[in-house]
Amino acid sequence: MTEDALGRPEINGRSFYGYDSSDVQDSYTGRDIEVEAGFILPHLKSGMSLLDCGCGPGAITFGLADVVAPGRVVGADIEPAMIEQATRLAAESGVQNVEFSVGDIYDLPFEDGEFDIVFSHSVTEHLSDPVRALRELHRVAKPGGLAGIVKTDWTFPFIVPESEGFSKFFELFEGGFNRIGGSLNRGRYLGAYMREAGFEVIEVRNQVSNAFGETTVITAERFISWLDNIPLFQESVELGITSESELDAVRAGMREWAAHPDAYFSLPGVRALGVKR
Ligand SMILES: C[S@@+](CC[C@H](N)C(=O)[O-])C[C@H]1O[C@@H](n2cnc3c(N)ncnc32)[C@H](O)[C@@H]1O
Repeated sequence: MTEDALGRPEINGRSFYGYDSSDVQDSYTGRDIEVEAGFILPHLKSGMSLLDCGCGPGAITFGLADVVAPGRVVGADIEPAMIEQATRLAAESGVQNVEFSVGDIYDLPFEDGEFDIVFSHSVTEHLSDPVRALRELHRVAKPGGLAGIVKTDWTFPFIVPESEGFSKFFELFEGGFNRIGGSLNRGRYLGAYMREAGFEVIEVRNQVSNAFGETTVITAERFISWLDNIPLFQESVELGITSESELDAVRAGMREWAAHPDAYFSLPGVRALGVKR
């Protein structure tokens, strides 16, 4: 594994995360603002300025921009492919109050106290130092401003019926994140991280995504597309941690799970709200 000019991890010249692949980006374009960001909506008012850091292709950002319009909304992401797609979608949709720029959450190109609201969804799990990232969000928030952060914690997913394929998928995915110092199962510490970063923490809650019925096939196929497009899985083969035949068995196992009439899937995360005093 190497790093590109921006310090992003890459494997064989491709982004470690694989977010440059359109299949993986598609996982994020269908985000529902009520599900993913409902906890912050009651705190938003028309005219507020808002930063969505690690915005991906911007599905959540657009929803937030609608709520605070005509307030200024900025989506920042370290991955240029994400920003290109978000910028294109913004132009197509005609949303006026949103802009997107490439930026690293550790070193944001914004002034101290620039935003009323700082938001970040499913980003800090990629980082070896989430507290440093949250300190940077604290810096760009206004005094009295609010932070809404969501972080995965996949230690206890409900996978019914049990599926060796799914369990192996999560084991390989977590192992890859660990290799860059990130973690998919530290969401439970989010409140502590935010307090350490300087926020007064006012709420910490579980936030869960579910799949049952027809959404099980969508869920399984989404994760299979990650297997095919996220380089950390190929790296796991190169490192001898897994093999192509085991990955084939993982794909088959996930499809078999999705076809089961009782298939149920529930993946937890943690969300927290904090204030900059
Ligand atoms: C799992 S995606 C989430 C995208 C979006 N927030 C959502 O929930 O739909 C994680 C995003 O974080 C971005 N990211 C990872 N490390 C980052 C960093 N150091 N600074 C800014 N963005 C980063 C990735 O490029 C990716 O777009």
